[in-house]
Amino acid sequence: MRLLGAKSIILFILILAQGSESSRTCKCDQQYFCNCSSNHLQQVPKVPANALGLDLSFNQIESININDLSPYSELKTLNLHKNKLSFIHKEAFKSQRNLKALDLSLNNLKELVSSWFHELKSLQHLNLVGNPYSTLGPASIFQSLVNLRTLQFGSPSLRVVHKNGLDGLTHLDEMTFIGSNLRSYENGSLKAARPIGLVSLSLQNLLQNDPELVSKVLQDVSHPETLLTIKDATLRTNTSTEPFKAAKEGGTKSLSFQNVTTSDEAITSLLQVMDGSPLSFLGLTDVHLFGQGWWQKASYTHYENLHTAYIRNLDIQGFFEFSSMIQLGFLLVHLHKVSVINGTVFVIPRETTLLLRNLEYLDLSQNLLSDLTIEPSLFTGFGAYQNLNTLNVSQNILKSLGLMSRLVTNLKRLIYLDLSHNSFVSMPEKCSWPATLRFLNLSSTKLRTMTACLPSTLTVLDLSENDLMVFNQRFPQLTTLILTGNRFMELPQGELFPRLCTLLIQRNALRMFNGSSLGRFKNLQYLEAGNNNFVCSCEFVSFFKQDVDRFITLRDGRCNYVCDTPFALRGDAIESVRLSVFECYMIPAVSVLCSVIIIVLGLIVVTCHKLHVIWYLQMTKAWIQAKRKPAVGRLAEELRYDAFVSYSQHDAEWVEEILVPELESSQPSFTLCLHKRDFRPGRWIVDNIIDSIEKSHRTLFVLSEHFVTSEWCRYELDFSHFRIVDEHNDSAVLVLLEPIKKETIPKRFCKLRKIMNSRTYLEWPEEEEKRGEFWSNLRAALQRDECTENAS
Ligand SMILES: *[C@@H]1O[C@H](CO)[C@@H](O)[C@H](O)[C@H]1NC(C)=O
Ligand SMILES: *[C@@H]1O[C@H](CO)[C@@H](O)[C@H](O)[C@H]1NC(C)=O
Ligand SMILES: *[C@@H]1O[C@H](CO)[C@@H](O)[C@H](O)[C@H]1NC(C)=O
Ligand SMILES: *[C@@H]1O[C@H](CO)[C@@H](O)[C@H](O)[C@H]1NC(C)=O
Ligand SMILES: *[C@@H]1O[C@H](CO)[C@@H](O)[C@H](O)[C@H]1NC(C)=O
Ligand SMILES: *[C@@H]1O[C@H](CO)[C@@H](O)[C@H](O)[C@H]1NC(C)=O
Ligand SMILES: *[C@@H]1O[C@H](CO)[C@@H](O)[C@H](O)[C@H]1NC(C)=O
Ligand SMILES: *[C@@H]1O[C@H](CO)[C@@H](O)[C@H](O)[C@H]1NC(C)=O
Repeated sequence: MRLLGAKSIILFILILAQGSESSRTCKCDQQYFCNCSSNHLQQVPKVPANALGLDLSFNQIESININDLSPYSELKTLNLHKNKLSFIHKEAFKSQRNLKALDLSLNNLKELVSSWFHELKSLQHLNLVGNPYSTLGPASIFQSLVNLRTLQFGSPSLRVVHKNGLDGLTHLDEMTFIGSNLRSYENGSLKAARPIGLVSLSLQNLLQNDPELVSKVLQDVSHPETLLTIKDATLRTNTSTEPFKAAKEGGTKSLSFQNVTTSDEAITSLLQVMDGSPLSFLGLTDVHLFGQGWWQKASYTHYENLHTAYIRNLDIQGFFEFSSMIQLGFLLVHLHKVSVINGTVFVIPRETTLLLRNLEYLDLSQNLLSDLTIEPSLFTGFGAYQNLNTLNVSQNILKSLGLMSRLVTNLKRLIYLDLSHNSFVSMPEKCSWPATLRFLNLSSTKLRTMTACLPSTLTVLDLSENDLMVFNQRFPQLTTLILTGNRFMELPQGELFPRLCTLLIQRNALRMFNGSSLGRFKNLQYLEAGNNNFVCSCEFVSFFKQDVDRFITLRDGRCNYVCDTPFALRGDAIESVRLSVFECYMIPAVSVLCSVIIIVLGLIVVTCHKLHVIWYLQMTKAWIQAKRKPAVGRLAEELRYDAFVSYSQHDAEWVEEILVPELESSQPSFTLCLHKRDFRPGRWIVDNIIDSIEKSHRTLFVLSEHFVTSEWCRYELDFSHFRIVDEHNDSAVLVLLEPIKKETIPKRFCKLRKIMNSRTYLEWPEEEEKRGEFWSNLRAALQRDECTENAS
C-alpha cells in the first residue's frame, strides 16, 4: 500500500515537472490554445490533452511520429509552419478527427502521403505550400478531405501535376497554387468537381517560358463563377498573354493581377486576346508597368461588360512619358467603378472626364491631386460624372474645402464623399453641397473650428483626428457622428442630433458624462468614448458602474474607460475603481469624524480625571525636577517663618483658635505662615505654597481625614520639590487631629504613607490634661537648631 503511495507521488511529481516544462515553452490560454511558436523545439512538446489549438510554427521539428499527436483528439488547429519536417508517420494524425486547420507550409516534405489525411474528416483548411515535393498524383491525395474549403499547395520544386490531383475535393472554395517551375501538367488535373470561388496562381516566369502549359492550367480553373488571380508573374511579350484565351473561353468574369511586371505590348496583346470576353472586373495590384500607355492597337476591342477597374499601387516606369488615358476610351466608357489608389495620379484631363459618363464610383485616394488639378479632374461638362455617387479623394494634397464644396455641387447624385487626409485646416463660413450628399468624411484634415459650412443633409459625418473643441451645428438627419481624436472636453449637446444613433468620441479630453448629458440625445444607442481624460469623481464612477447601461451601450469595451484624475487613480479602469465612503461623502464624513474626535477627547478627559492621570503626570514632572535640583540647604536669614501651617478649611477653627494663639503669643513665640493670612493676593496658589514652604523652617501639616482627601494632593508634589520627605530631611511635622486609618489614605499618596510610617507624629489628645505635653512636643519639633542652620 505504502509503496504504491510513494510511487504515485513520484509519478505525480514527474507529471508536474513535465507539465511545468511544457508550460515553460508553450503558453496555453483560456481558450485552450497553446502557442509554442519560435521555441527551438525539436519535437512535438507535451501540452494539456484538451488543447484545442497548437501553434508549433518556427521551430526545428523534423518528424512527427505515430504517437506524438495521439493525446490531442480535441485539436482544431495545428500549425507547423516553418519547421524542418521531413517525416510524418502515415498515421500521425489518426486521432485528429476534429482538426479544422492544418498548416504544413515551409517544411521539408519530399512527398505527399494520402494516408496522412485519412481521418481528417473535419479538415477545412490545408496549407502545403513551400515543401520540396515534386509531384502531385497520380494517386489522388486529398480524397478523404471531404470538407476541405481552402487548399494551398505547390512550390518552386513542383514539376509534375498528374490528373486526379484534386479528386474528392467537392467543397473547395479557395485554391492557391504555386507552380513556377512546372514541367508537366495533365489536362484536367486542377479541375474541381464544382467551380472554385477563388483561384490564385503564382506562376512567375512560367507565363513567359511555357505559355502552353499555363493554357492548360487556365483551361481547368476558368469558370464564370471563379475569381482568377495571377500572382508574382512577368508578362512582357505578346506570347505570354496567349494563355488568357483559355480564360476567356472559360468565361472568366473577374481577373486580377498581383505583383506583376508588365509592358505596353503585353497589355495591348492581353486586351486583344480577351476581346469580346465577358470580363467585368479587372484588378491590378502592385503592378510595375514598363511603357507609356500606347495601347491604341487594342482600340477596337469590345469590353461592354467591364464595369470595374481596380488599380492599386501602380508603378509606372515611364511616368512622365505616360500619355493621357484618352486612348483607353474604349475601356473607360463602360466603367461604373474605378479605383486608382496610390497610382501617382495628379490630374484627369478634361478629355478623359468626358468618357466617364457611366461612372458611379471613383476612388482616387492616395494620389497627387491638388487644388490646381482637382478642378479639371472634376469637370462636369457634357454629362461627365452625372451618375457619380461615391467620390474618394482621401490622401491627396487638397487644401481648400471651399473649392471642393463648389466642385462637388455639380455632382447631382453624389452620396458619399471622402475628403479625409487632406490639409484643409479651416472651413469657409458658407459652402454649397449637392442635396443628395449623405456621407462626408473629413477625418485627419487638420480642422480647427467648425462653421456652418457642413451640409445638414448628412447621415454620417466623420470628423475624427482633427483639432476640434466645440460643435454647435444642428444635423437633423445624422445617425453616425465620429469625433474620435479631437479635443472635446464634454459631449456635444444632444439636441443638435435628434436622430443620432452612434457617437464615437474616443481619445478626446472628456472629463465625464452623466445621465443628463446622455439623456439629451433622443436616439443614441451606441457610444464609444474610451481613452479620454476622465475625472473619477464619485458621481461619475457610480454613474458609469451602475447607470450608464440604461442610456446607451458602450461599444468599445469598458476596459478602455480609464481614470486620468485624481492622480492616485490614474490609469485604473473606472470599472475597477472603488471609492471609499470618505471620498464620496466628504462633508458628512468630516462632521461625523469631528464629532467622534470630540467624543473621544471627552472620554479621555473623563477617564483621566477618574484615574488621576494628570496628577500622575504632574507628579512625574515634579519628581524629575526634584532629581535635577541640587539639595541645597536654606540659609537661616531667608527663613522668615518658623513654620508653614498647612491645613484643610475644615480644620480652620482649630488652627486659628487653638494653634495660632498658643504658638504665636506664648514665650518663646513662633512666627507661623497661614495661607489665609500671609499669602500674597493675586498669586497662583501653588506658587504661594512653594514660596511659603521655602521661607519656612518647618512645614506643619494638620492632618485630618478631610485634609488627606482634599488637600494632600497639592503637597505631595511640593514635597517632592523640596525633598521634604527624604530620609534625612525632617522639615515636615505632622499633627494628627483625629486618628486616620492608613487604609483610608489613597494608594497614590505614597509619600504620605511613607512619612507616616517613618516619622513619629503628634496626635492631638482629646483629654485636656495631655495637651500640655502635646504643646511642648510641638514646640520642640518647631524649634530652630542654631548649629545645624549655620553649618548648612
Ligand atoms: C504565438 O506567439 C508568437 C510570438 O511568440 C506570435 O507571433 C504568434 O502570433 C502567436 N500565435 C498565435 C496564433 O497567437
Ligand atoms: C489538353 O489540352 C490541350 C489544349 O488545351 C489540347 O490541345 C490537348 O489535346 C488536350 N489533351 C488531352 C489529352 O485532352
Ligand atoms: C513578386 O514576384 C516576384 C517574381 O516575379 C517574386 O520574386 C517576389 O517575391 C514577389 N513579391 C512578393 C511580395 O510576393
Ligand atoms: C508579337 O510580337 C512580335 C515582335 O515582338 C511580332 O513579330 C509578332 O507579330 C507579334 N504577334 C502578335 C500575334 O501580335
Ligand atoms: C504605393 O505604391 C508604391 C509602388 O508604386 C509602393 O512602393 C508603396 O509601398 C505603395 N504605398 C502604399 C501605402 O501602399
Ligand atoms: C477612401 O479611400 C481610403 C484610403 O484608400 C479608404 O480608407 C476609405 O475607406 C475610402 N472611402 C470610401 C468611402 O470607400
Ligand atoms: C474616414 O476616413 C478615414 C481615413 O481614410 C477612415 O479610416 C475612416 O474609416 C473613414 N470613415 C468612415 C466612416 O468610413
Ligand atoms: C452633467 O455633465 C455636465 C457636463 O458634461 C455638467 O455640466 C452637468 O452639471 C452635469 N450634471 C449633473 C447633474 O451632474
